[in-house]
Order: sequence, then C-alpha cells, then structure tokens
Amino acid sequence: MQRNQRMFWLSVLGFSSIIYMVVALSKFRPNNVPIFPPPETEETSVCSTSTLATTTTPTIFFITPTYPRREQVAELTRLGQTLLLAGNVHWVVAEDSDTCSPLVAALLTRLGLPYTHITSPQPNIYKEAKLKYNPRGVSSRRAGLSWVMEHQPEGVIYFGDDDNTYDIRLFKEIATTKQVSMFPVGFIGIQGVSSPIVIDGKVVGFSDDWFAQRKFPVDMAGFAVNLEFLRSRNKKANRAMPYKAGYEEDVFLQNLNLTLEDIEPMASDCTEVLVWHTKTVKEK
Ligand code: UGA
Ligand code: MN
Repeated sequence: MQRNQRMFWLSVLGFSSIIYMVVALSKFRPNNVPIFPPPETEETSVCSTSTLATTTTPTIFFITPTYPRREQVAELTRLGQTLLLAGNVHWVVAEDSDTCSPLVAALLTRLGLPYTHITSPQPNIYKEAKLKYNPRGVSSRRAGLSWVMEHQPEGVIYFGDDDNTYDIRLFKEIATTKQVSMFPVGFIGIQGVSSPIVIDGKVVGFSDDWFAQRKFPVDMAGFAVNLEFLRSRNKKANRAMPYKAGYEEDVFLQNLNLTLEDIEPMASDCTEVLVWHTKTVKEK
C-alpha cells in the first residue's frame, strides 16, 4: 500500500513537471508571423461614408481604431463630441470586427460629422499566433489610411485611439502640418509626458519612458502627417504600419525615410500637453 502511494505521488510529480516544461517552452516559441500581412489576409469593407465637407480646411482625417466591448459607445460618444468642436475633422472610424456595429453607425449619423465607417478585422494569422503582446488597432489604421489615400487628394492624417483625451486646440495645431508634426503626449508609462526635445525650434531628440533602440520613440497620438508629404515619401504608406507591438510608430515613420530635420514641433515648441494617453478601467 505504502509503495503504491509513493508510486502515485511520484507519477503526479513527473506528470506536473512535464506539463510545466511544455508551458514554459511554449513561452519561448518563436513567432513566425510576418510584421506586414500578405494582402489576401486583409479584409476591409466600407459600412458608410458621409458626403459632408468639413467647415474649415485643411481637413484632418482622424483615424480611430475601435473594437466591440462594453465601453465602446461611451468612448466614441465622448470622442465624437470633441471632434464636433474641432470643425475641420473627417472621422475615419475603423472597427476591428467583421461586422458594422449598428450602435456605432447610429452614433455617426446622429453626430452629423463628416465620417467614414469601415470594418477591418485583425487577420487570422495574428489571432491564431496568440502573440504575447498583440498589436492593437493596426488593422484599423492600415484600413483607414488606405481609404484616405485612395479617396482624398489632400489633408492631414492623425491616428487617434478611441480612449485618449484630446484638447480641441490640438486640431488647429495639426492642421498646419506640412510634413510630419510632433507634440507631447501626457501619461506615457511611468513618465508624466513623452515629448520631442526641441532646441531653437528644431527637434534634437526625444524623452520617453521606453526607448528600445527606436529611432522615433513617440506615441501614436504624438504625431500628424500631411497627406501630400506622405505620398511623396511612400506611395505605399498604407501598408507601412506593422504588426509589431510597441514598434508601430517607429517602423511607420522610418518607412517615410523621416529625419529629425523633417519634423515640425507643435504645441509651442513642445511645451504644452494637448493630448493624453488616458485609459478606461475595464470591468471583466
Ligand atoms: C498603446 C498605443 O497608444 C496604441 O497606439 C498602440 O496601438 C498600442 O499601445 C499597442 O502597441 O498595442 P493602449 O492604450 O495600450 O495603446 O491600447 P488600447 O487603447 O487598448 O488600443 C489602442 C487602439 O486600438 C484603441 O483605439 C482600441 O480601441 C483599438 N483596439 C484595441 C482594437 O482595435 N482592437 C483590439 O483588440 C484592441
Ligand atoms: Mn489606449
């Protein structure tokens, strides 16, 4: 009996060690997914687009990734009402979903902003890869940018997540973007602010919570790009946003062959915070 018991516990121990090894090894499994998806894996469709024009020019194409969840409509209501105050925004809302949300569609119609509503689910290759850090909002930015590049001759592009906080003064600033403008973003990591460092009106470096050998350690909310400049630097810029968590901004900007000299500092030489990387607490 005692011998049987010992055998039992030994087998339990052996079995758990094997399980532990399998789990631990899977953490180190290399991710064999490309950072740029094969074109046939991307699927975008336009739910609807308004023919309204903005009241002032140039138009800012504010590209917002969003996805279905409890907080979605609350976030988009707050953001949409901010954008109404700006006057020069065409809102490109791109859903990480297979279907056009009727709640989002109703909100867009109700607001009366110029808008384009599209769906652009994350390709299955990334979902199936179960990446440790899943890049968020990439399919939406790629689809939104594709739509703008295909349908709009000129304007300014800005990638605005649905949960950030935007001061309406930001829109006047970024409307003047001739190439790539940059400005501080509040609440990044443990730092109160992430910002380009400006000396004598020129960007000479960056201050950020996380450098990781990035040439442009900036947040997605910290820059805007002129559409003509974008086309002149990379006609396929719509394919330049990578599926690489944490490196989306850097890879995208490097794909425009950007140099520090090209950057136009905004927000009074980057001394003012006009956008914050706020997060909404999620209820499980
Ligand atoms: C930070 C950056 O601010 C993002 O620009 C960047 O895409 C992201 O990290 C990343 O590298 O993954 P964070 O606040 O941590 O963003 O992430 P979320 O706010 O949860 O997501 C960013 C955007 O993607 C949001 O607009 C969100 O609605 C959207 N999203 C999120 C999706 O479209 N699908 C998802 O499954 C999750
Ligand atoms: Mn966020």
